[in-house]
Amino acid sequence: MDSLREVACQLATEAARLIVDERPDQLGVAATKTSATDVVTEMDRRSEDLLRRRLEQLRPDDGLLGEEGTSSAGTSGITWVVDPIDGTVNYLYEIPAYAVSVAACTGDAQVPESLEPVAAAVVNPMTRELFHAARGEGAWCTRDERTWRLAVNAPVPLAQALLGTGFGYAADKRRRQGAVVAELLPVVRDIRRAGSAALDLCAVAAGRLDVYFESGLNPWDRLGGQLLVTEAGGVVLGADGGPASGELTVAGAAETVAALTALRLQ
Ligand code: IPD
Repeated sequence: MDSLREVACQLATEAARLIVDERPDQLGVAATKTSATDVVTEMDRRSEDLLRRRLEQLRPDDGLLGEEGTSSAGTSGITWVVDPIDGTVNYLYEIPAYAVSVAACTGDAQVPESLEPVAAAVVNPMTRELFHAARGEGAWCTRDERTWRLAVNAPVPLAQALLGTGFGYAADKRRRQGAVVAELLPVVRDIRRAGSAALDLCAVAAGRLDVYFESGLNPWDRLGGQLLVTEAGGVVLGADGGPASGELTVAGAAETVAALTALRLQ
């Protein structure tokens, strides 16, 4: 498992360096995807291309599923699920909260709900933080020469919980998410929307958020950070306490997650 973690760290670090060092002076929107707000830059594509080429060299028998459309079946039973820039809108505006997320998963790449992360790395190039985990080996953060172990915060009542969330791109989903936030805001300590689901999940693992929820995440947004949370002692669940899915992802200490999921989040 450790070698999968090493590959994840290596690849996420290389891609993070690329998106910083080779960012063009005039970066524009190259395309939109599911809606006009769901943007792609040329650097999303170049980062995914680098991840694909490096995986072909290092792990030629593995599969790959990437946000920008790369999908290849492997023969080894491992599928790499990658987000070449998570927080693309932050990246576009030079807000220093975006990441590269790389997760090695077991399961069937054609069935996203079956994917289980076994090793992962999430890099925020702006803070120089490398979050990494392997199943059964704990969750860690490395910055410069220092590495420390991550642990989710102890359970808290919702009134004392700092909550993270994010919004999808479709207008009807955003309307509903706005209504849910309006209901939650008076009953929690406060709400943060940082703009990168991978970093939100790492923030839960690091104790910088008590709990996080979002509906509408894709596997590449979620799977890397999900392993960080579970290896940091937390849980990542979905609707009705089932597995996290595109429908709903809730992460934090088990009791805090249970208190939040008891409310209507979708
Ligand atoms: C998005 C970010 C954002 C979340 C969205 C994601 P992208 O990923 O993670 O925080 O709220 O749901 O789609 O598009 O920047 O890779």
